Order: sequence, then structure tokens, then C-alpha cells
Amino acid sequence: MNKNDYTYEVSAAGRVNIIGEHIDYCGGKVLPAALSLKNTVYIRPNGTDKINIEWSTLPNKVSIDINNLENYRHLKYGNYQAGCALELQKAGHKLVGCDMYQDCTVPFGSGLSSSAAIEVSTIAALATVAGEKIDPVSIALMAQQAEHNYAGVNCGIMDQYASACGKKDMAMLLDCKTLECEYIPFDLGDYSLVIADCNKPHSLTVSKYNERRNETERALAILQKRLDINCLADVTLAQFSKYEYMLPQPLRKRAAHVINECQRVNVAEQALRVGNIELLGRLLNLSHASLKNLYETTGKEADALVEAAQSHPACIGSRLTGGGFGGSTISIVRREYVDEFCEYVFKRYEEATGYAAKFYNAQIADGLTIKKI
Ligand code: GLA
Repeated sequence: MNKNDYTYEVSAAGRVNIIGEHIDYCGGKVLPAALSLKNTVYIRPNGTDKINIEWSTLPNKVSIDINNLENYRHLKYGNYQAGCALELQKAGHKLVGCDMYQDCTVPFGSGLSSSAAIEVSTIAALATVAGEKIDPVSIALMAQQAEHNYAGVNCGIMDQYASACGKKDMAMLLDCKTLECEYIPFDLGDYSLVIADCNKPHSLTVSKYNERRNETERALAILQKRLDINCLADVTLAQFSKYEYMLPQPLRKRAAHVINECQRVNVAEQALRVGNIELLGRLLNLSHASLKNLYETTGKEADALVEAAQSHPACIGSRLTGGGFGGSTISIVRREYVDEFCEYVFKRYEEATGYAAKFYNAQIADGLTIKKI
């Protein structure tokens, strides 16, 4: 691949979620950040009606016809790109035939949103090569639709929003109801953020994720019989303690997670603004315990990885980040002990599960970037 053969270089980021897990589709606030791990699309127009796709990681080449975009749902490779092109088309944007080369440094299955990075960069690249200018929030919304309609994951907006709108060294306080976002400097003082991957292929993610979303919707419908609310994130702690009896299990546990996690996001925002990193660390631990016991999205490996991290004296907080059922954890660790911490966690986790944890060296980075080559 020679980069100079292409016209544009378009990148979109993977993400971590610092706190606010399974909150986006409940209308609350979340606190993600975009990563330097990203998907880059090199693209050029080719004067045909075909989108030709190549990957840095695969020998395959795939060609899709822009007049027939519904037909590629079952492609093993290229279905995401077809889904993205289809969303652009449905929204009335122009599509042109093009050659694209995809290079993803977000590890697949890591829980760091490789799919959002692929979707956002692909939509932005297709729009750019067709001469269309689309704002990043609209790109994120189309990317979310591609995930719903083509990949079948009924996800919230957090991943695609972070991938499109992230900023270097900034955490994003995203209100998923209004789509307003405040940027807060991500300054951990004497601490570093360590990202560790369970490195276990996860399989049931899609159905379990959609099941959780469905449970929160059922809980909302029941609470709406008594409360004037539009989403679960609107429920206060006082209201919840009054009306939780209405919810059968497991809906009560699921709602308890959502309502308490929303409070943790508010406290975490303040902690980050004033540099109280110890408090942020404790909130991470509480969030993980809630995901484990109430929301039940962690699993044996993620729990073992978080327990290993939390048992190291230089670590002040650790939790599973993202949709769950495997994936990656984030830990806040005193900077001078990071290497020792990683060695320790690797060993303990391997003893507990037999898997080899992977650690990623990633910074908080810009979301979407579009460059003319
Ligand atoms: C996945 C989804 C997001 C969000 C998280 C959980 O990453 O894509 O929309 O719901 O899970 O917080």
C-alpha cells in the first residue's frame, strides 16, 4: 500500500469509558475519552459504481455495488462498510465509487470500540470523497444506525460520539439525552491510566447486550406508571427507593445499577475537575462491583483481571470498561509503579484464568481527523 496513491486519509478513534456504563441508552451522562488506537481509511474516487475495500490485516478484497447496498449484510468482511454506505445513502447523501484501504489499530474484540472507529471513519471518508461535508455528531448518529441496522447491536450513542468528537487529553462529559458534550481535561496527576485486555474471545456479547437494554426499557415502562419520567436516568435515588418494589428481579437490579451509576458519573465529574483522583479511583471500584453484582455484564475473566489490579497497592481503582462480557479494564495506577503493576497483574490473572492479559499503550487523542494527501 502506498499512501500517496490515495486522496484522503481519514481516522476515527477507539475509546475507553471512564465511568457511566450502560447509561447511554438510559438517557444519562457518560464520561468516555477517545484513544490513539484508531481506524484509518485511505480513500480515492475510482469513477465506477463500486466501493472496493482492502484491509491491512486481511488478504481479502471486497467490492460492493453502491446501487445494491442492502445485499451485503452477510459478508464476513465488508459488511460494516456496506452498512455505513447504506446509512449515508438513506440520509440522502451522495455516494461515489471509490477504493478504500482500511487500517485498524484498535484490537478487535477488545471492548475499545473498534466497530465505532471503523464506522465513523468509513462514513467520514465516503462523505469526503463524494465532496460532502457532514458534521461529526451527524456522522456519529449515522454510525450508530449502521451498528443497529447492519450489525444488529442495539447500542447507545457513546462509542460513535466519542470516536467522532473526542479531543486530545480530554474526557468527554456527554449527556446522551441532549447530545451536549463538555470537555474536561483528563489530568490524573501522579497517576496513569492502564488499559488491560482480558484477551478472551467473547461470543455472547450481542444477544446479552440487547437483553440488558431490553430489561432497562421494561423497568422504565413499569416505573412510568408512577413517575413522570422519560428515561431511567431521570429517576432520583429517593424516587427509586420509594418505587423499586414495583420491579421484579432482575429488572430491579438492573435499574439499581443505572440509577446509582448516574450518581457516580456526577461525582466523578467533580472529582476529575478538582483533581481528586483517589475519589475517582474509588468510584471506578464501585462501578465495577455494580456491573458485576447488579448489571451482571462482567464475567469470570473481567472480574479476575479487576481483582488482580485492585489488589496491587499502587492501584487506586479498576473496572471493566465498555459493553462487557470480556473486553478491557481500566485501572488508575501510580505512575512510577506502572511496569511493576502490569507484571503483577499479568501473573495473577494468568494464574486465575489461564489467559494472557494484554496491555495497551494508548493516549487520550482526537476523535475524527480528515487529511488531504
Ligand atoms: C457498548 C455500546 C455503548 C454502551 C456501552 C456500555 O460499548 O456500544 O453504546 O452502551 O456498551 O456502556
